[in-house]
Amino acid sequence: SITINGEVYPINLTNDSSVTPDTSLATFIRTKTNYRATKVSCAEGGCGACTVALTYVPPGETVPVTRPINSCLAKLLSLNGMTVATNEYIGNKLIGYHPIQTKLAELNGTQCGYCSSGMVMLLYAYLQENPNPTPLEVEQILDGNLCRCTGYRPILDTFKSFAT
Ligand code: FES
Repeated sequence: SITINGEVYPINLTNDSSVTPDTSLATFIRTKTNYRATKVSCAEGGCGACTVALTYVPPGETVPVTRPINSCLAKLLSLNGMTVATNEYIGNKLIGYHPIQTKLAELNGTQCGYCSSGMVMLLYAYLQENPNPTPLEVEQILDGNLCRCTGYRPILDTFKSFAT
């Protein structure tokens, strides 16, 4: 099973032929849940549009960690027992927006919007483990996420607003 946005999804290869060992987390999210914020652009780990936050206990450890991952590369079956958060989960119009979402919109960093969810989840996951990053650190983590509009300045400004 996998937990996505607080809901447990059982995975049964015997009963569901649409899920195979090759099924990516991104495909599962977009076809088996009602969440559509997670985008797939390159589908090969190059753009970061599909970034989600993954929480899991590393082998040999007892404390869970949260990491941003490219959900287009992560195979669903490798994530048994793990927890995923997407952009809808950390903030939406019903529960209120997350400060990262609000700041990205305020600074006009959403542009066409295709990369926005991945950008938000990248910073969100990073801040879970690194709550007081430097401006250089938040700039460096951005190197795996591409903006097709190439409007990086407002995105960088958003990221740096969470740095100390
Ligand atoms: Fe996953 Fe581009 S769609 S990295």
